[in-house]
Amino acid sequence: MHILITGGTGFVGEALREHWLAAGHELTILSRSAHPDTRNCRYVQTLEAVPASPSPEAVVNLAGASLAGKRWTAAYKKTLVDSRVEGTRALVAWMRGLPVPPRVLLNASAIGFYGPRDSEPLGEDAAAGSGFASELCQAWEAQALAVADIGVRVCLLRLGVVLDAGGGAFVQMAQPFRMGIASWPGGGEQYLSWVHRADAVAAFDFLLQQEAMSGPVNVTAPAPVTQRDFCAAMREHFRTLPGMPVPGAVMRLLLGEMADELLLTGQRVMPQRLQASGFLWRHPDIHSALEAMLGAHAGDRLP
Ligand SMILES: NC(=O)c1ccc[n+]([C@@H]2O[C@H](COP(=O)([O-])OP(=O)(O)OC[C@H]3O[C@@H](n4cnc5c(N)ncnc54)[C@H](OP(=O)(O)O)[C@@H]3O)[C@@H](O)[C@H]2O)c1
Repeated sequence: MHILITGGTGFVGEALREHWLAAGHELTILSRSAHPDTRNCRYVQTLEAVPASPSPEAVVNLAGASLAGKRWTAAYKKTLVDSRVEGTRALVAWMRGLPVPPRVLLNASAIGFYGPRDSEPLGEDAAAGSGFASELCQAWEAQALAVADIGVRVCLLRLGVVLDAGGGAFVQMAQPFRMGIASWPGGGEQYLSWVHRADAVAAFDFLLQQEAMSGPVNVTAPAPVTQRDFCAAMREHFRTLPGMPVPGAVMRLLLGEMADELLLTGQRVMPQRLQASGFLWRHPDIHSALEAMLGAHAGDRLP
């Protein structure tokens, strides 16, 4: 199958690329910069350069400036919005203009859609929340859905925090533990809904093939943890001082508004639709995920 991936050079995209190339698919990756083509994988810098024959049967939309990349100044918020909402608007307009539109659009979104929540479990039917990240996800999803009326199956993958060794959020999350400091942000009872990168990749692949699935799909592990529990699980792998909180005021000072939305609050997201469809997780709980990730860093681990 010919699959177009926007943002296919990123943390999720690079793992998807390896998975799908190994499965024998033909990939086109839309990137802002030039990359050398490899067997069955070509890079383009504009949508107009995507080969028309065979035209892509599937589009995977991952492109967007990193949410945790910089402080959320007004200018950076505009970059976050434009790179997703305007990028998706352009992608949808291009799809609508193709003689043969792709059959499916797998659009990345995030659990930030649900906004800051307490501990109530949130399935895909839970209402949208409030705050910048939620509004961003809502606008992004609305743009993606605009291509459904020409018969494209649109899946909105609400990704939890994607964890894997050596990339993504885990690099920062593990840093204090590597220095012997175990901590959690703020009160510690807020939920961290996460997914191992291998399971996120498997979920994209699963949804590519599930012709009956469309709409929002929570892509998280079935066992979200509180930040305090995450700290305890990390302490099973690192030699640290006893865990302690980092006060909210300190986090706000360091990170600004992002601290409130991404760290000091959380959401307990349940992957109800994946569970109901028989999807199987390689790493359903945080202990299994950490074991898989930290096995490569035996020097940091307790004897
Ligand atoms: N990783 C997570 O924990 C997580 C959680 C929830 C949701 N998501 C969402 O899933 C998607 C993929 O995540 P990821 O971790 O793979 O992201 P990533 O590593 O930051 O990669 C995203 C890609 O988007 C492109 N990009 C960056 N800035 C851009 C800009 N200003 N305009 C247009 N394109 C830009 C880059 O590709 P080029 O440089 O090649 O153009 C980059 O490789 C993202 O949209 C992210 O918001 C991720």
